[in-house]
Amino acid sequence: MTRHKYALELIDCLPEDFAQTVQTFGREGGRGANVTLPHKLAAAELADALSDRAKLAGAVNTLRFETDGILFGDNTDGAGLVADLTGHLGLELVGKRILVIGAGGAARGLLGPLLDHHPAEVVVANRTVERAMLLAARFVSAGRVRGVALGDVGEDFDLVINATSTSLSDEVPDIDGRVFGLGSIAYDLSYGRNGQTAFTHWAKTRGAGAAVDGWGMLVEQAAESFHVWFGLRPDTSPMYSVRQL
Ligand code: ATR
Repeated sequence: MTRHKYALELIDCLPEDFAQTVQTFGREGGRGANVTLPHKLAAAELADALSDRAKLAGAVNTLRFETDGILFGDNTDGAGLVADLTGHLGLELVGKRILVIGAGGAARGLLGPLLDHHPAEVVVANRTVERAMLLAARFVSAGRVRGVALGDVGEDFDLVINATSTSLSDEVPDIDGRVFGLGSIAYDLSYGRNGQTAFTHWAKTRGAGAAVDGWGMLVEQAAESFHVWFGLRPDTSPMYSVRQL
C-alpha cells in the first residue's frame, strides 16, 4: 500500500481578504482549496480557468494551483450531492420530479449534475422568483427545468432539496407542505446535530417519507475535490460512521 501525506488547514477570512488569502496560500505551497459560502462567486471570479461545470454554475467551491501559476476553478457541489443521493442513499433519479428550493450560490452547482441523471423535470423555486427563472434559463439545454415562485411549486415531488440558507437561522422556506407525497425524500444542503435541521424536521411533520441533512453531500463534495487536487478518490465510508455532528 502506498502511503501519502497531506496537510490540511482551515482558513477563515472576510470577503474583502479572500483574493489575498488565496494567493498567499498558493505562494506558500498550497495545492488546492475547498471554498465555502460566502466566497463561491468570488472564487469563480478569481480563477484564471474554469471547468465546464464551474462555468455553468457560475460558482466555484474547488481551487487548484497549477504548476504554471494558473488558478483553476471547479465546482464539485453537484457531483457531491448526486454521489450522496445515488451512491450512499441508493436513490434512482431517472424519471423523478425534483424540486430545488433556492437559487443562490448553493443551488447553482446542483442543476447540471441533477439534470445529467435525466429526471422527468427539475423545478427551481425561489423567494425572489426572477433569480429562479434566470438560474433555470441557464440550464434549459441540459434538460427539463423551470423557475417558479415559492407559492407556485405544485405538489407531490419525489425529491425536495432545500438549497436556501434558512436552516442556518432555524427557519424553513414558506412553501406548501403538499410538495411532499408518501414516498418523497426531503434533502437539506445544511447539516445539523443528529442529522436534523429545521427543514428535515418540518418535512417529516408535513409527510415526507424520509428527510436527510447535507452531511453526505459535504463528505462527497470534499472527496470529489480531493480527486481534483490529487487524482485520487478517497474511500468516504468511514466518514459516515465517525459522524459526530
Ligand atoms: P447568495 O444568495 O448570497 O448566493 P445563498 O446562501 O446561496 O447565498 O442563497 C440564499 C438562498 O436562500 C436564496 O435562494 C435566498 O432567496 P432570495 O434569492 O430570495 O434571497 C434563500 N433564502 C434566504 N432566506 C430565505 C427565507 N427566509 N425564505 C426563503 N428563502 C430564503
